[in-house]
Amino acid sequence: MKIGLLVGSLRKESFNKKIAEVAKKVINQGNQAEIIDISYLPFYNQDDDGAKPREEYVKIREELKKYDAYIFFTPEYNRSLAPSLKNVIDIGSRDPKGNLWDGKPAAVFSASMGQSGGTMGNHALRQSFIYVNLITMNQPEVYIPAVHTLFDKDGNLVKGTKTFVEDSSKAFVDFAKKHS
Ligand SMILES: Cc1cc2nc3c(=O)[nH]c(=O)nc-3n(C[C@H](O)[C@H](O)[C@H](O)COP(=O)(O)O)c2cc1C
Repeated sequence: MKIGLLVGSLRKESFNKKIAEVAKKVINQGNQAEIIDISYLPFYNQDDDGAKPREEYVKIREELKKYDAYIFFTPEYNRSLAPSLKNVIDIGSRDPKGNLWDGKPAAVFSASMGQSGGTMGNHALRQSFIYVNLITMNQPEVYIPAVHTLFDKDGNLVKGTKTFVEDSSKAFVDFAKKHS
């Protein structure tokens, strides 16, 4: 099982990226996980697609095709999703051969500084999942609040949250196997 990890925050010290690294490590014990770089993608423009798509669209579509399932790691921005993730969903939905997401298992893990753990960003993303037919893991729900308080002085995720992320990642692998 190859699982693609998509991180909605593009900043270098992103907490969501650090959480994705924890998920990657545990999934790689028996399966495969990679963080898919989406930082180079321009905003989707239909004028740059079609018979001769721009090279970034071709590149990310080929990359996405390598994976059986996906976990999206999102911050909450102004009570909604991270636009970089919506953008890659849009680009992936318009491959010349069709919608790349169709029928693939997916999960959303959200982490934000606020007390709701990015719930609204998390759910906004799921709205698009319905249309592109990503088959979404409903439980466990992964919302990580006050994420800036959850790393120790060496930059490691604190034990309780780390275990939660690891268990949720393993639950997703089981879900993805069942729905592939
Ligand atoms: C434009 C912007 C909007 C934000 N809106 C929210 C928000 O709605 N809810 C929230 O909990 N945090 C919000 N934050 C704070 C983020 O939770 C915080 O920056 C977090 O570290 C982002 O995730 P990252 O560490 O993966 O980059 C916002 C941050 C930015 C830059």
